[in-house]
Amino acid sequence: MTTFPASAGATPPIYDRIGIGYQRTRRPDPRLAALIRQALAGARTVVNVGAGAGSYEPENAEVTAVEPSQIMLDQHPGATKVRASAEELPFPDQAFEAAMAVMTIHHWSDQEGGLRELRRVSRRQVVFTWDPEHRPELWMISDYLPQIRDLENSRFTPLSEVAEALGAHTVLPFPIPHDFTDGFQIAYWRRPEFFLDPVVRQASSTFAQLPADVVEPAIARLREDLGNGSWARRYADLLARDSVDYGYRLLIAGE
Ligand SMILES: C[S@@+](CC[C@H](N)C(=O)[O-])C[C@H]1O[C@@H](n2cnc3c(N)ncnc32)[C@H](O)[C@@H]1O
Repeated sequence: MTTFPASAGATPPIYDRIGIGYQRTRRPDPRLAALIRQALAGARTVVNVGAGAGSYEPENAEVTAVEPSQIMLDQHPGATKVRASAEELPFPDQAFEAAMAVMTIHHWSDQEGGLRELRRVSRRQVVFTWDPEHRPELWMISDYLPQIRDLENSRFTPLSEVAEALGAHTVLPFPIPHDFTDGFQIAYWRRPEFFLDPVVRQASSTFAQLPADVVEPAIARLREDLGNGSWARRYADLLARDSVDYGYRLLIAGE
């Protein structure tokens, strides 16, 4: 049975609020870009659903960007942009050789319907998302802000259910490099001081959806732990790692 959750931020689009300045903190990571490029190889027409500012779009394909947020569409540099939602894509069946959806399905109000739409309008589907059932969790969740866990469980669907809905034939893990450039929440697993910066937190829809009276005390505690060295002592093993598998996955379906 599928238990696709409803989106926490469907109306108005949350990215109309937090999307301003998105390009500053959310720079596409070259290693993730390479993985996505490989998955889209050979596709000449690609629809990027939940396109944001256009990260990870293939350079050698004709790309149609789909976004419900006008603020995000305005930051998208592409020539073909459509204001629409995943749940109702305004394209005929099999209009594109491939569809891509990167870190967006957890925002959709009807994930199952949106994935069905991806399959309807394209011959291949490439989806990058996160598995809420994966362990280990980021230390920020386990030790500072367990409220993130509830929020993420309400937005993200277990990967096995996404894979089933998509009919995925391939699931590729993407361990997060310590210097990951795309500033969503997980990027700073080895650079805790970044979480002290409100601009960095603002670029993450997770932080943007938690009330300040929940976030601020946790950040104050982190600041103290960084100052007195207790964070570095507690996570000494992490500081020695180059990448960690935190449950991010690329799913590929279709041709
Ligand atoms: C975390 S951003 C990812 C943007 C881009 N794919 C990237 O990798 O940078 C999530 C995007 O999903 C969009 N979004 C939210 N609800 C959506 C929906 N129902 N259908 C399509 N996109 C949606 C948001 O407006 C936002 O731009």
